[in-house]
Amino acid sequence: MIKFTYFGHSCFVIEGSKGKIVIDPFFKGNPHVKVTPSEILVSHILVTHAHADHFGDSIEISQKNKAPVVGVYELVQKAIQQGATGHGMNIGGSFRFDFGEVTMVSAAHSSGFSDGSYGGSPCGYIIKMDNRTIYHAGDTGLSMEMKLIAELHNIDVAFLPIGDNYTMGPADAATAVEFLKPKVAVPMHYNTFPEIKADPEDFVDKVGDLCRVKVMGFGETYEL
Ligand code: NI
Ligand code: MN
Repeated sequence: MIKFTYFGHSCFVIEGSKGKIVIDPFFKGNPHVKVTPSEILVSHILVTHAHADHFGDSIEISQKNKAPVVGVYELVQKAIQQGATGHGMNIGGSFRFDFGEVTMVSAAHSSGFSDGSYGGSPCGYIIKMDNRTIYHAGDTGLSMEMKLIAELHNIDVAFLPIGDNYTMGPADAATAVEFLKPKVAVPMHYNTFPEIKADPEDFVDKVGDLCRVKVMGFGETYEL
């Protein structure tokens, strides 16, 4: 059994029997969430790419919790320079952490820090915790890689961006569901900024009976 809480945008805290992690910890500047980074108690911070709405409060949370930032090698090197601890990976690699196993997968996007420096490749994650398999897509367009992901992993829950403009919109995200074959899909990366305004019910309609869609409220927790 795992528990995950949605903090808006692409930020989730996931808790299993062997640990608790945060993905894309964007708290400061997130208009929908009142939680401060100091309230986040985790052992690891997974980051999909260097854009500020994903890298977010990684440094502060890493320092406070002595928790490594997990990400693509170049992103982690930059986090370490800023005073975090880190664990660098790259696309296709897996690593067994205390909380579970993480595989880094590709994402069709870009990745640079707000100062213009290179952030390495953007990525998504397959996370295996307590016999559950989670796919966090990061920021991505629809990609054929998702068919490969479905061949290699039996996905219980997929966190998919639906906000359009920077990522897939609801229609492409519904096609992603067709490719990935998850048991549950959770829409993310929408309604944070005006340019990613989307109606999650539109995504629900387009997915139809391909899988269950769970539209999560801010701060809502779901058990699986
Ligand atoms: Ni991005
Ligand atoms: Mn983004």
